Amino acid sequence: MTTPAIRPLIAGNWKMNGSRELTRTLIQDLKKELVDRPSLDADLLVCPPAPYLLLAAEMLSGSRIALGAQDCHALPPGAHTGDISAGMLIDCGCSFVILGHSERRADHGETSETVMEKAKAAIGAGLRAIVCVGETLAQRESGETLKVVESQLEGSVPADADAENLVIAYEPVWAIGTGKTPTNTDIETVHRHIRKLLTSWFSDGHQIRILYGGSVKGANAAEILAVPEVNGALVGGASLKTTEFWAIATARG
Ligand code: PGA
Repeated sequence: MTTPAIRPLIAGNWKMNGSRELTRTLIQDLKKELVDRPSLDADLLVCPPAPYLLLAAEMLSGSRIALGAQDCHALPPGAHTGDISAGMLIDCGCSFVILGHSERRADHGETSETVMEKAKAAIGAGLRAIVCVGETLAQRESGETLKVVESQLEGSVPADADAENLVIAYEPVWAIGTGKTPTNTDIETVHRHIRKLLTSWFSDGHQIRILYGGSVKGANAAEILAVPEVNGALVGGASLKTTEFWAIATARG
């Protein structure tokens, strides 16, 4: 089946960076750019740290830029000190949440099972879940990339997800924040494999967005976004500078 055009999503993952000041400046500048480019052929998303979500929501109100969080808890509100429920994110104006980012898998021991529970909670609350998968350098070098990605997807993606509430981000761990990227052929191989799995699992699997993430910047965005089955980018470092993020957003021309 030929894949119908999927509107790309350019998502900024600010990680544990920023301040109220940066939140104001980045969003103000992005909004200005968008006003001058109403025909932009991509959806934009910013995912600031939790303390800045409300401020970001206020600033984004009425704009075409969506708001997302970087994590949520799997359970409803209750005795979980320091955690944030999916419903609270909705209450703060979020429509997306990033889940299972490799930094959370590494720093917080999140397993695919945890990610699956979080994704179910997120989708149940009305959020769109961006589920991240990707291999380490050792796994790539030993030829396990597709196997690793497949088992992460199998373990993390809820069975009742669909193209409306699920986005996949393929982020090779060794490409995150390193300035290194896989070859376009390597990106295509993994994205095609993910697409094959999604279409076998979901009736609208051909419409689920598959983002690439890992050292995407203005200079390489056009090339990466042109790779078949790449439907957008999850951008870390480069999302903290409006000029870079905007260059990625407009890279497809
Ligand atoms: P990077 O991060 O763009 O800084 O490599 C991407 C990510 O971790 O989402």
